[in-house]
Amino acid sequence: MRNNIVAGNWKMNHTATQTKSLINDIKESLEGKSTHCRVLVSPTIINLALAVQEIQGSAIEVVAQNMHQAKKGAYTGEISAEMLEDIGVNTVILGHSERRTYFGEDNAILTEKVSMALENNLEVIFCFGELLEDRLAQNHFNVVESQLKNVVLNLDATLWKKIILAYEPVWAIGTGETASPEQAQEMHAFIRSLLYKTYGKSVADNVSILYGGSVKPANAKEIFSKEDVDGGLIGGASLNATDFTAIVTAF
Ligand code: 13P
Repeated sequence: MRNNIVAGNWKMNHTATQTKSLINDIKESLEGKSTHCRVLVSPTIINLALAVQEIQGSAIEVVAQNMHQAKKGAYTGEISAEMLEDIGVNTVILGHSERRTYFGEDNAILTEKVSMALENNLEVIFCFGELLEDRLAQNHFNVVESQLKNVVLNLDATLWKKIILAYEPVWAIGTGETASPEQAQEMHAFIRSLLYKTYGKSVADNVSILYGGSVKPANAKEIFSKEDVDGGLIGGASLNATDFTAIVTAF
């Protein structure tokens, strides 16, 4: 059966010192609490190795926010899948809307990135979601279907054990506006139906589909209670240990 997952995407926040103290605050705050989900944190790339050291002895996992699609070579400023794996990072977020919007990551680049990550045995958290104008035009299901079809829905069924999906409607990211639990469930059920049509029941039942977009302690429980919502990708609220822990324990 699929896992419940709460992942904190710290984006371009926190120095090394702050990263260390946030991880330790989360560890302390989770101590003695029973958690019913995988707990992932994703610091900025320069702090990944430090984070891997700091989580030792805890159940927290460290995730990268990005990686380059090439194996290695003359790509100044970039990092490869192999480099992530080598420092003990086993999961990478790909396709975040901020990467698509500010760094021009399109379906072709993301297809290469997903394939390079999987070749290196990394687990992928693949993000996608519609813009406000898409939703207002009632075009959100088409947009999501095309984002999935153009990148991940043609992968071999056996690779899906290494893929987590994260539906993040762009209009809900960092805006304080959340999809209602019903809107999240409606889209997640649609996504699962696409998996079912493409791969059948076993893949559809076993892929975790996370919701992202202004998840807070106040709304996490209701969103996570929906049948096809298997957790969250948390931005702003994951930078505060108390809030993040409250979201983790909402399961
Ligand atoms: P917020 O939780 O700040 O809306 O960010 C969501 C997000 O982009 C997680 O990847």
